[in-house]
Amino acid sequence: MPDQIRLLVVEDVPQVAQYIRGLLNSQTAIKLLDVVSDGTKVIGLAQELRPDVILVDALLQGRIKGMQLVAKLHESGISVPVIVLTVPQHPVQPNPATGIHSVLPMPFTGYELVTRVQQARQVAAEAEAQGGARMVTVFAPKGGVGKTTIAFNLAVAIGQSGLRTVLIDGSLQFGDMRALLKVPMDAPSLLDLPTDRIQESDLEDVLWRDPSGIDILLAPPRVELAEMVTVRDLEKTLSLLRRVYQVVIVDTPAVVNDVNLAFLDASDTILEVVTWDSTTIHSTMVMADAFRAIGYPPGKIRYLVNRSDSTGGFDPGVLANALGRTPEHAISSGGALVVRTNNEGIPFVLADPSAQISRDVFDIASELIGGPVAAAVRR
Ligand SMILES: Nc1ncnc2c1ncn2[C@@H]1O[C@H](COP(=O)(O)OP(=O)(O)O)[C@@H](O)[C@H]1O
Ligand SMILES: [Mg+2]
Repeated sequence: MPDQIRLLVVEDVPQVAQYIRGLLNSQTAIKLLDVVSDGTKVIGLAQELRPDVILVDALLQGRIKGMQLVAKLHESGISVPVIVLTVPQHPVQPNPATGIHSVLPMPFTGYELVTRVQQARQVAAEAEAQGGARMVTVFAPKGGVGKTTIAFNLAVAIGQSGLRTVLIDGSLQFGDMRALLKVPMDAPSLLDLPTDRIQESDLEDVLWRDPSGIDILLAPPRVELAEMVTVRDLEKTLSLLRRVYQVVIVDTPAVVNDVNLAFLDASDTILEVVTWDSTTIHSTMVMADAFRAIGYPPGKIRYLVNRSDSTGGFDPGVLANALGRTPEHAISSGGALVVRTNNEGIPFVLADPSAQISRDVFDIASELIGGPVAAAVRR
């Protein structure tokens, strides 16, 4: 059975282990490689047995507890989707960004177990087949709506999941990221990449390694240098970055020009930021027409309402009507936290991960990268 899904189960309660064995005995879709009761042995076994999916009991006892093991598997870079088995009294939320790709609550039937394992494998396989990194461009036809703040924090949130993440400062003229991160004037930019044959090793010298764990390709340090970036060079750079990284996030300025269109074309997802004000909504509608004319599929664009809680009396229905759909994502106002962290050049998602605005960004990170996180890591 070459298509059998190889499953490794980590379970220390003999009755549950026995139950799972029994359920899997009567089917052929899944091959049970082993049932391990000692969490310390799992990483070694996973390397040896190469499972497609690992099922971990959240309540595993012993030297390594269940959720510690899930975190360890995630950190280890063993890129296998993990399903967490739990009981209703101990709820666990799926969060691919922390290595919890799926959750299976007890009690479950054989059918539920098998479909859950198949889904986890499927999501991983699809992302693997896509190949290369996922690229998300944060865009808006308006300045000041939060693009740079969101792009930076989103990239850091995704980077926290262990995915190799690069952020491109596509604000080529003003290089917002330089200001935000207070990088020295002489820090290299994408203009320092060779234009003819760029290689992976060239990236080493040019990327800014931010303490937040992500790498950043900075914009040129002066306005007039932006013109020197050609679409051709940019496309080459993007294709290299997509081979080296697992996730590429791009911050953009509020313009529609060749360079910005090169970013938008190359993206899997355009995350378009909207705020509750009439001129922004108007520009968003104009942009929606332009995207239709270009021929982008509607699913390529996902709308994000920033400062979603400050409606300023705006009726949310107006925006949904104008867009023809409810915006997919929302980020609440971060108030003083955003001002302080932006001024310090640090991401709020790390400074205060439990703040509402940070939780919003983590949610968007797992919705955007979601299932594919597992498979993206598999590369
Ligand atoms: N959700 C938010 N809550 C509070 N302040 C925000 C939020 N999003 C953005 N800001 C603030 O708005 C300003 C503009 O944000 P910025 O990311 O530079 O926008 P853009 O890149 O679209 O021009 C910044 O001062 C930023 O701190
Ligand atoms: Mg900006």
